[in-house]
Amino acid sequence: MVDYDGRLHQVYAAGRALKASTLDIWKQVFAEVAPAARPLTVLDLGSGIGRFTPALAEVFGGPVYGVEPSARMREIATGTASHPGVTYLEGSSAAIPLPDASCDLALLFLSFHHFPDKLRGLQEVARVLRPGGVVMLRSQFSDRMPDLPWYRYFASARRVDAEMYLPLEEVRALATEAGLVPEVEPRFVQAESPDTLRASYERVKHRAYSTFEHLPADELDEGFAAFEQDAEADPDRALAPIPGALLVLRRPSTPR
Ligand SMILES: C[S@@+](CC[C@H](N)C(=O)[O-])C[C@H]1O[C@@H](n2cnc3c(N)ncnc32)[C@H](O)[C@@H]1O
Repeated sequence: MVDYDGRLHQVYAAGRALKASTLDIWKQVFAEVAPAARPLTVLDLGSGIGRFTPALAEVFGGPVYGVEPSARMREIATGTASHPGVTYLEGSSAAIPLPDASCDLALLFLSFHHFPDKLRGLQEVARVLRPGGVVMLRSQFSDRMPDLPWYRYFASARRVDAEMYLPLEEVRALATEAGLVPEVEPRFVQAESPDTLRASYERVKHRAYSTFEHLPADELDEGFAAFEQDAEADPDRALAPIPGALLVLRRPSTPR
């Protein structure tokens, strides 16, 4: 379990900030996969500090519910990511505080891997979705892990990350069991990776990724020292873009 009420909420905004251009790309992708009608009622499950929540209200025009278990993350969202269409609620994948069939669209942006009971979480999401509703599951899959440039500085980071995620077919099977219809493959969205070594270091140094919560202190110290040294020696080294995986799940319009 990763505790966002501990250190992570303090560094999240600095270490995970989204450029306006990155947010625009995601908004476009969300609009493409969502049901066509407007306005839509949207659930942002594991909304964190509200990186995406106001954008969902802008794009879809209906009420957006940011459901988040961490009181500290929610506090930041309420203070910095308010929008007239957005309501932040205490809740989690175990119990979403919304009625059955009340939402058209659900975003799970890098929150699914934290769900202690993933089937139950997907069943909860399916419960609050209307027939024809769509789930946008932004996650990694242990058999499709990206080759992040900073893995090389931390001996166990790649393994730790892969252990946090399920393989694609397991996620698809859980979604199906929860009554959702998954697409066959994730879509890969090019939206969010620093393009130079210096930019990568400046982002990662905040340790705002849950990976770092699982690494031993000496590995962290040595890794960050080597990463900083390389970033200073070769700041403009170009990094290949790393796309983010988004699996789309649908609640059928008619009972199956
Ligand atoms: C990596 S952050 C992503 C936050 C936000 N979606 C974003 O992209 O900025 C993961 C979030 O999931 C939340 N979370 C952890 N366990 C959860 C659960 N069981 N149900 C819903 N959210 C959960 C954490 O508190 C944290 O805010």
